[in-house]
Amino acid sequence: MRIGIAGLGTVGAGLIELIQKHGDLLARRGGKSLEITAVSARDKSRDRGVDCSGYEWFDNAVDLAASDKVDVVVELIGGSDGIAREVVETAIGNGKAVVTANKALIAHHGTSLAAAAESMKVPLSFEAAVAGGIPIVKALREGLAGNEISRVYGILNGTCNYILTQMEESGRDFEDVLDDAQKLGYAEADPAFDIDGVDAAHKIAILASLAFGCPVDFDALHIEGIRHVTALDIAYATELGYRIKLLAIARRGEGGIEQRVHPCMVPLHTPIAHVDGVFNAVVAEGDFVDQTVYEGRGAGAGPTASAVAADLVDIARGLNLAPFAVAASDLQEVPTLPMDDHEGPVYVRLMVLDQPGVMADVAAILRDENVSIESVLQRGRSPGEVVPVILILHDAREGAMKRVLKSLEEMEPVVEPPRMIRIELL
Ligand SMILES: NC(=O)c1ccc[n+]([C@@H]2O[C@H](COP(=O)([O-])OP(=O)(O)OC[C@H]3O[C@@H](n4cnc5c(N)ncnc54)[C@H](OP(=O)(O)O)[C@@H]3O)[C@@H](O)[C@H]2O)c1
Repeated sequence: MRIGIAGLGTVGAGLIELIQKHGDLLARRGGKSLEITAVSARDKSRDRGVDCSGYEWFDNAVDLAASDKVDVVVELIGGSDGIAREVVETAIGNGKAVVTANKALIAHHGTSLAAAAESMKVPLSFEAAVAGGIPIVKALREGLAGNEISRVYGILNGTCNYILTQMEESGRDFEDVLDDAQKLGYAEADPAFDIDGVDAAHKIAILASLAFGCPVDFDALHIEGIRHVTALDIAYATELGYRIKLLAIARRGEGGIEQRVHPCMVPLHTPIAHVDGVFNAVVAEGDFVDQTVYEGRGAGAGPTASAVAADLVDIARGLNLAPFAVAASDLQEVPTLPMDDHEGPVYVRLMVLDQPGVMADVAAILRDENVSIESVLQRGRSPGEVVPVILILHDAREGAMKRVLKSLEEMEPVVEPPRMIRIELL
């Protein structure tokens, strides 16, 4: 099986290393030899840490995708549009199987690409696009095929999980830890996609489609990142028996599906609370199997190459499944449940001037929106000074909470915008 690799960065070089090291193993498992015949990147002269001298070089990755010396095109360039999309569309149009690690591309164009691949009867595989080395695409598409899936959620961004873990362990604030993460290579120079939740949103949009048999709908997502999580919130979470994680959640509810990414307080006794550092974890819940939990490295050359190689072996074996488990034409539109209707317990932190009557005003605002208080936490007394006040609220509707937060912010003794973190009981 002749493989053309477009993109020779972290994942591309990792894949070459894996295929060079495990050629025999892959051939035995796939039933035929897997040969890299062609490669493409921007800079031919760059040292990639692997020997590419035996492969035909293409300056233009689209030419590689159309080359008759390539049977399978591996797209490892990245980006939802532009050259990556062109490479994948060209490969499919030329009747070639495609493997990609590109979550942005699949989250935005997955359904139409799947339809194109199915009409050309070629596989389109993207195990590496979600949770790196964890075989969660395979698990949902194959292993759990006998179940109606009610919920799939997880920690899908290693950068955010690393930052939150470091904040908890060191007591330092977000900016400080982000700075270190960038120096150590755990966060990109431009970290926005990761820390603002977009990367995790790409991944959960793909998992939602696999789990619920609906078209991938990135625009349906509610997305919040971790910029506003403070060391103080993390300390309070610990005290209250929670840990703060950036969760990506897709859930089938009454009349539709909710898809959201935001920081959550998760109870300490849940498996997801103990997933630390750059690790990812996914939980999928099916009606017959109950809860299944997957954990592993969500990024990096080795784990991502491992997932790409698994797709290549499947293609060598002749496996050609519908990319989203059911034929693209059978994916069924499902209404998106509005975030304003979401209901759940919440943590709210107020920074208030310690003066008489404040709590009565806070209670009145909550009462007016029908939100009830489970507990209030305020340490000691510092008359005239700013103190944190923590409110734990019973199941509150998101729409009501928006109005509550606005009214709280308008109170004179409240000196900075209130911070809300949703509690996920899981
Ligand atoms: N890194 C991870 O841990 C990880 C994990 C899961 C999924 N992914 C996904 O895997 C894909 C690749 O990620 P990566 O981290 O390997 O990226 P990367 O290190 O930035 O590598 C990107 C590669 O694409 C090449 N490239 C850029 N524009 C090109 C063009 N116009 N024509 C041909 N080649 C071009 C670059 O060439 P030059 O080297 O010559 O500049 C580079 O080799 C992305 O979709 C990413 O989301 C990555």
